[in-house]
Amino acid sequence: MRAAARRLMEVFVTRRIPPEGRAALARAGVSNIQEWDSDEPIPQTELLAGVAGKAGILCLLSDRIDKEVLDAAGPSLKVISTLSVGYDHLAIDEIKKRGIRVGYTPDILTDATAELTVALLLATSRRLPESVEEVKNGGWTTWKPLWMCGYGLSGSTVGIIGLGRIGQAVARRLKPFGVKRFLYSGCNPKPERAAEFGAEFVPLAKLAEESDFVIVTCSLTPNTQGMCNRDFFGKMKKTALFINTSRGAVVNQDDLYDALVKGHIAAAGLDVTTPEPLPPAHPLLSLKNCVILPHIGSATYATRNTMSVLAANNLLAGLKGESMPSELRL
Ligand code: NDP
Ligand code: DGY
Repeated sequence: MRAAARRLMEVFVTRRIPPEGRAALARAGVSNIQEWDSDEPIPQTELLAGVAGKAGILCLLSDRIDKEVLDAAGPSLKVISTLSVGYDHLAIDEIKKRGIRVGYTPDILTDATAELTVALLLATSRRLPESVEEVKNGGWTTWKPLWMCGYGLSGSTVGIIGLGRIGQAVARRLKPFGVKRFLYSGCNPKPERAAEFGAEFVPLAKLAEESDFVIVTCSLTPNTQGMCNRDFFGKMKKTALFINTSRGAVVNQDDLYDALVKGHIAAAGLDVTTPEPLPPAHPLLSLKNCVILPHIGSATYATRNTMSVLAANNLLAGLKGESMPSELRL
């Protein structure tokens, strides 16, 4: 292979990715794959050194691909493929300016993430972690009429912030539980998506005021950053639950902590936090009415393998200048 062609195929992979994705890269005969061969995040100095002179980067949502990294990569960089549907970790304006293409992994993780969102909602509303703990620690003394009671979905109003792919998949799964009314908020009404659930487009304040369950499934953008704050929690019902499987930064966590401690809302379930991982001493972890998971929305073996293949194929197509299976339109 000529030197120029070989250079075109030089890629940096920022983490050990699932075997099917690795195999897809290997099969394609990418001549020079450099990989951070670890399950742990790459130190910044290694990342900067690793991307230098590469044509492609395959990264994770925990890697910040900002101006510093793009400068370190230099003008040879043609494509960034992220093993995620969320792309808030990528400096999109800077990437666009440099004419770099971006691949991502929408749709294939929607079912797994919606399933986890429902699991988190039920675990939080029916107090499952707390109940399991009581069985283990001897707190289960007898059957008591109001002990470990929670809130059910039947006859409830569910408010979804961001009726996108995952938001719709969550609504589809919750409907058979007997939800009476769906509300949603977003950039603008999406009647064709909402029709299936008879969902009503409402301002954020109304969604907070009228929902028994608030579920956040929007993307993290400058507009959604910190959107769920004191004012928002103050409008929610005291008996309502707050569930977030989007990104931690959509929530002001100090305000959420206050709302949970002061009883302004009943409980919260979070799959995403700021920072990640959340330090074990974080105040939210001391609360019984807050269930926190370690960002496992898409974590099924099949989904993560499929994501890795799609990320590999996006990368390969981008390197060859072909159309990607899932390209982010910048
Ligand atoms: P989509 O692009 O399909 O949906 C994003 C939604 O966000 C859209 O409906 C959009 O609304 C909405 N949105 C954007 N701005 C606002 C706003 N200001 N107020 C309310 N809603 C807004 O993406 P997906 O459903 O595929 O994924 C959503 C997000 O979920 C990802 O960006 C990622 O951060 C997160 N995610 C988390 C996972 C986990 O493991 N916990 C797994 C997968 C994804 P509109 O339709 O009006 O434009
Ligand atoms: C994503 O893809 O954005 C998730 O957060 C991880 O699957």
